[in-house]
Amino acid sequence: MASTISEMKVVPTGGPVGAEIQGVDLREDPPGEVVFAILQAFTEHLVVFFRDQELSQDRLLDIAQWFGPFNVPPKDLPVLGDENQPPVVPVSNYVEGGMLGNRELEAHSDMSYLPVPLLGAMMYAVELPPVGGDTSFSNLYQAYGELDEETRALVAGLKVWSYNPYTPRFADRGAELGGATQKFAEEDPPVFPHPIVRTHPVSGRKSLYVGGLLCEEIVGLDDKEQAATLLERLKAHVDQEHLYYTHQWRTGDLLIWDNRCTNHKRTAFDNSLRRLMYRVQIAGTRPF
Ligand SMILES: [Fe+2]
Repeated sequence: MASTISEMKVVPTGGPVGAEIQGVDLREDPPGEVVFAILQAFTEHLVVFFRDQELSQDRLLDIAQWFGPFNVPPKDLPVLGDENQPPVVPVSNYVEGGMLGNRELEAHSDMSYLPVPLLGAMMYAVELPPVGGDTSFSNLYQAYGELDEETRALVAGLKVWSYNPYTPRFADRGAELGGATQKFAEEDPPVFPHPIVRTHPVSGRKSLYVGGLLCEEIVGLDDKEQAATLLERLKAHVDQEHLYYTHQWRTGDLLIWDNRCTNHKRTAFDNSLRRLMYRVQIAGTRPF
């Protein structure tokens, strides 16, 4: 039986982002009004999740495409993934083709190094370590809103570029991030700066598009030292504890985050423990 709108409940986490959507069994398509309500909750809460779902990889792709087409990386510019660049990426420290190992991952918005970064990503928890590997999501609208007037005026019109870890120039960083079978580009692509103050294409709200892991250099300031200091200050600003919601993963969780207005980060976990998440990357639009 398909889930109905009267059974669906949106329960906010109480943190700066996130809501649990209850009463929806994702194994089969719910009516359009339910999907629409899920999309509305995503716009409002930036991160939404469902518990206790039993989903095949094909089904994950179906659900992801309510939000947008899935991301298919160009052959000459690989992103997270092996030679095959599968649409469902195993994020895992133990399966063959598994990506992202077990290390800590600092705050970032996925693939901000691409000319057109992701809209968002979806992760489905298959196997989890009893401790570690928590994912925290931050509210970058709030981060922008909490900037002082002087800094807001300074960052308006500036851009920042992120490094692509899967390119020759940054391969040492990529080797730590990808898995053993990570594919690397043969040549360095140009850098793709994006506005530091980003306007969300659905909500129209402004957010601070900066993260600690990938952002490399601010473009638009003549004083390079000032640019470097400003970037460090913005990275610290977006990483304040009160901007985060930490998700307590359970197997069967399906979670979708909006990369256009949130960052996420992960704690390390013991590599002798097994962790497997299936991830689908949802294609985005050009930031403005
Ligand atoms: Fe990520």
